[in-house]
Amino acid sequence: MVRTSWKAAAFTSFLVATQAQDSTVSSQYTSPTVYPSPNSTGSGGWDAAYAQAQQFLSQLNVTEKSWMVTGVRGPCVGNIAPIPRLGFGGLCLQDGPAAIRIADYASVFPAGITTASSWDKNFFFQRGAALGEEFRDKGAHVILAPVAGPLGRVALGGRNWEGFSPDPYLTGSTFSLSVEGMQSVGAQACGKHYIGNEQETQRNPSMNDEGETILAISSNIDDRTMHELYLWPFADAVKSGMASVMCSYNRINQTYGCENSKLLNGVLKDELGFQGYVVSDWGATHSGLQSINGGLDMDMPGTIGWTGSASYFGGNITTAVQNGSLAESRLDDMVLRIMTPYYFLRQENYPTVDPSTADLNSFDPAESNYTWNLEGEGSRDVRGNHAQLIHDIAAQSTILLKNTNGTLPLRSPKNIGVFGNDAADLANGLYNYADLNYAASPGYDLGTIAVGGGSGQGRFTTLVAPLEAIKRRAMQDNSVVQYVLSNEVATGSDNPALSGKIYPEPDVCLVFLKTWVSEGYDRNAYEADWNSTQLVTNVTSICSNTVVITHSGGINTMPWADNENVTAILVAHFPGEQSGNSLVSVLYGDVNPSGHLPYTIAAEESDYNTKVINMTIDNNTDPNAWQDDFTEGLLIDYRHFDQEDIEPLFEFGFGLSYTTFNMSSLSVGLSANTTLGQYPANSTIQPGGNPDLYTVLATVSATVSNTGDVYGAAVPQLYVSLPTDSTPEGTPVKVLRGFEKISLAAGASQQVQFPLTRRDLSYWDISAQDWALPADGTPSVQVGWSSRDLPLNGTITWMVGG
Ligand code: NOJ
Repeated sequence: MVRTSWKAAAFTSFLVATQAQDSTVSSQYTSPTVYPSPNSTGSGGWDAAYAQAQQFLSQLNVTEKSWMVTGVRGPCVGNIAPIPRLGFGGLCLQDGPAAIRIADYASVFPAGITTASSWDKNFFFQRGAALGEEFRDKGAHVILAPVAGPLGRVALGGRNWEGFSPDPYLTGSTFSLSVEGMQSVGAQACGKHYIGNEQETQRNPSMNDEGETILAISSNIDDRTMHELYLWPFADAVKSGMASVMCSYNRINQTYGCENSKLLNGVLKDELGFQGYVVSDWGATHSGLQSINGGLDMDMPGTIGWTGSASYFGGNITTAVQNGSLAESRLDDMVLRIMTPYYFLRQENYPTVDPSTADLNSFDPAESNYTWNLEGEGSRDVRGNHAQLIHDIAAQSTILLKNTNGTLPLRSPKNIGVFGNDAADLANGLYNYADLNYAASPGYDLGTIAVGGGSGQGRFTTLVAPLEAIKRRAMQDNSVVQYVLSNEVATGSDNPALSGKIYPEPDVCLVFLKTWVSEGYDRNAYEADWNSTQLVTNVTSICSNTVVITHSGGINTMPWADNENVTAILVAHFPGEQSGNSLVSVLYGDVNPSGHLPYTIAAEESDYNTKVINMTIDNNTDPNAWQDDFTEGLLIDYRHFDQEDIEPLFEFGFGLSYTTFNMSSLSVGLSANTTLGQYPANSTIQPGGNPDLYTVLATVSATVSNTGDVYGAAVPQLYVSLPTDSTPEGTPVKVLRGFEKISLAAGASQQVQFPLTRRDLSYWDISAQDWALPADGTPSVQVGWSSRDLPLNGTITWMVGG
């Protein structure tokens, strides 16, 4: 019954949105209401845990039920109060995606964007598991991560680094394998931010000069784009059993994320069969009943929010149930959704919250109405041997974009120059760069950037700066290491000042550029910060062998890339605590670089088609002024460059190695009958949606050989082109639908296989409200090394009918 209602509603309203053309009036994008909120069933293997949750629920009175869905002040970033009479110790929810943020003796891992650059599925899982262990051992039940929203639609998005890639397939893989890793060790993953949270500017409502509320930005997304781009990774993670989803601050098609019944009830819980709970972003709840009926299951931070105001949930829920305006069955489902993953992951036997968490969070249990169990050893060291994993991921995520004259790997240079304010250690503490200069751009001056700001940061217990690691390594060769760390000095117009500080000319100059980025702000420039281009110009004028290394939370243009004295470029993103060590491993060839770009680097910033929406709101009297129409549809990043035939500086998927690879012998095998139904077979929805969407219809294989002299890892990639004559307008020229990372000794070969599912080969049919295979024509596949270097191609030949 629910299914019919959302289908019908979706058809009318989303169809309008889909037909919106360039002249779109934002109001054409609307979000229909879809009620009721579907009940969970424990499907997807959660039945036993669901039965335990039902047993727990049966012992709660209405007031206790309301506590279960409303945050309170406590030791963690988010807290659900204990119910001692039932032996329930409460829930601790902690940030974030690269580290457990409010903690001591914990690791800071490579950021999401860094990890995606490895294109290594083993790392995606292992990083998730290592993060999960640290959260678990600190007593944090719920990890407020991973991040697939933002996806990275706009290059300057302030939180792109927390997520993975603007490509939904690559993000789907990193996101879902992160979830699987985290949950494999017993912690709950909370995937965020659902959905369309693509910019920080006006992510929340604000007040104009007249004291009127100006609504948060509305991300206006048509139905097809929603399914094929922004929802895709969430579908993957729901299929992986993700415990929780965080709804976002922004509006989507005019309705706030945490009360958007179409997206929470209709899409997430019904179409995708999500069995876990939806938790609000902190302060993203703007209503009580409307949110609850719209699909929100937990309000954070709850009782007393950051503003000191009362929650829309809490006591209001008890009243609403008692006066009949809220069905108790809906409240029951909220509790069941929260407790089923808890039992599934056996969290009734979980470590207590580390007492140091409460100290770091400035929480005094004596002032609380609840009995928190903060027993147990304090300041637990949860790092284990994760430093090695952090080093390995960061090294193998480092992307080599240019390497002329055999500059890299370094061969015991006698004289090394190091330049730039990103090279050396932090100057003002190991936590919260942002505190030092939060709102100012470009933010933090002296010190290397290894993680971004906001809720995604971490407290370093150690941070190996590049200069430190280079000096240590250079000692082995008894080399000279000279450096100028102040960008102000190094970018001065008085160039002799730079050369006067450096003598003799180094054999190699390493220039470090950084780009600060933080939650709460979008970036305002594409080039790296701190007069970076001038820095490169000045160094290259005294040094003919210059290697540029970037630490950044996203896309940077590189106007200096073709400078002939720039002989090598390495993109290291935010590598986490082992920054310098991982870089030195790559520079000296102990690790052969194998990172590939998870986005496109444009030759000109104007080549990007999507921008941050910004407007002055000082005298804004239209509360609904902030509208962001995603009129480019599916064509973001490389899909846009392909469509418009724009030559990028470095394309999506690109990355060099110290060895060379060859690819041969493409074959396409059809796994199924060559006559297929256009739509998936009718079957009971499971987490992830219709299970038939994941049926493998074809498998493509190719042989990869290491033709160079050294061991190295290759990343063969597969792209699918659906036939344009039997797919709707706006279908991308090609989309990524497969990749593997394979390590090969010099001279070795290996066959690689790319299974293609029904969903991989379908488009979202807005009329049928289902995934459809193109009715005529044959999809083609291309396999190669990047989105612009695809030496092998073939076709998938079948009959679609019935
Ligand atoms: C707001 C952020 O958007 C979210 O990602 C984070 O988990 C919460 N704050 C809690 O810190």
